[in-house]
Amino acid sequence: MIYPRIIAHRCGGALTPENTLAGLRLAARLGCRGVEFDAMLAADGVPVLIHDETLDRTTSGRGYVADMSSASFIRLDAGGHYHPAFAGESPPTLDEALRLCAAIGLWANVEIKPSAGQEAQTGRVVARHAAAAQGQMLLSSFSSAALCAAADAAEAVPRALLVEAIPEDWRRRIAESGARALHSSARLLTAEALDAVRDTGIPLACYTVNHRDDAERLFALGVSAVFTDRPDLWLSSEM
Ligand code: G3P
Ligand code: MG
Repeated sequence: MIYPRIIAHRCGGALTPENTLAGLRLAARLGCRGVEFDAMLAADGVPVLIHDETLDRTTSGRGYVADMSSASFIRLDAGGHYHPAFAGESPPTLDEALRLCAAIGLWANVEIKPSAGQEAQTGRVVARHAAAAQGQMLLSSFSSAALCAAADAAEAVPRALLVEAIPEDWRRRIAESGARALHSSARLLTAEALDAVRDTGIPLACYTVNHRDDAERLFALGVSAVFTDRPDLWLSSEM
C-alpha cells in the first residue's frame, strides 16, 4: 500500500479547527497529499466529521453527537472555539469531506469513530459512504467490530487497524478484519514491536508526530507515514 509520508491529523492538524473543510483546504495549500479525519454517526445515521462523542469541546453544540440530527449538526459552529477568525465554519458531513478531498486531490484516511454501542453500524455506514465516493482513501478504527463490519459492507475499500500500543495479538486482529496496515501511537512504539511489524512487510503509520526529528527517526526505522498536527514543518516537495 502506498502512503503519503506526511498525513495532516484531523484535517489540517493544529493549524485550523479540527475536522473541518477549512483544515482540508489548508492541508492541500501546504502541499499535503494525505489527511486523516474522524467520522461518527449523527442521530439520523448520517456520518459526520467529529472526534469526541460529545459536541461541547469543538462545536457550539451541547450533548451527544448521536442525539443530534445531521441537519442540526451542520448548522453548528465548529470554528469559533478554535479562534474567532474561523467562527461560522460548519462541521461537515463525511460526504462533503470526501467530495472536497477528491476535488483537491487529497488521499483520505477516514477514521471510523463510533459512539459507544454503535461500532458495527458505524463501520458499515462509513464504509458504504467511502465506497460510493470518488478519490483515494483508507478506513481505520480502534474498533475491530467496526473494521469487520466495514469489510462486510465494502470489502474493496482498504482498511488499517488502529491501536495505541501495538498489542500482543495484533497479527490476529489484522487478519480477522482483513486490514492491510497498522496505525499505532508513536509514543508507545517499542523497538520489539516495530521489528515484528517490519518483518511482516505490513505498513506501519504512527500518530501523532509533531517534530520533524521524530518523524525522520521513524522513517529511518521503516515507518511508512506519520500523522501530524504540524504539516507546515515540511515543504510540499518533502511530503
Ligand atoms: O488515526 C490516528 C489518530 O487520529 C488516532 O487518534 O484520537 O486523534 O483520533 P485520535
Ligand atoms: Mg483520528
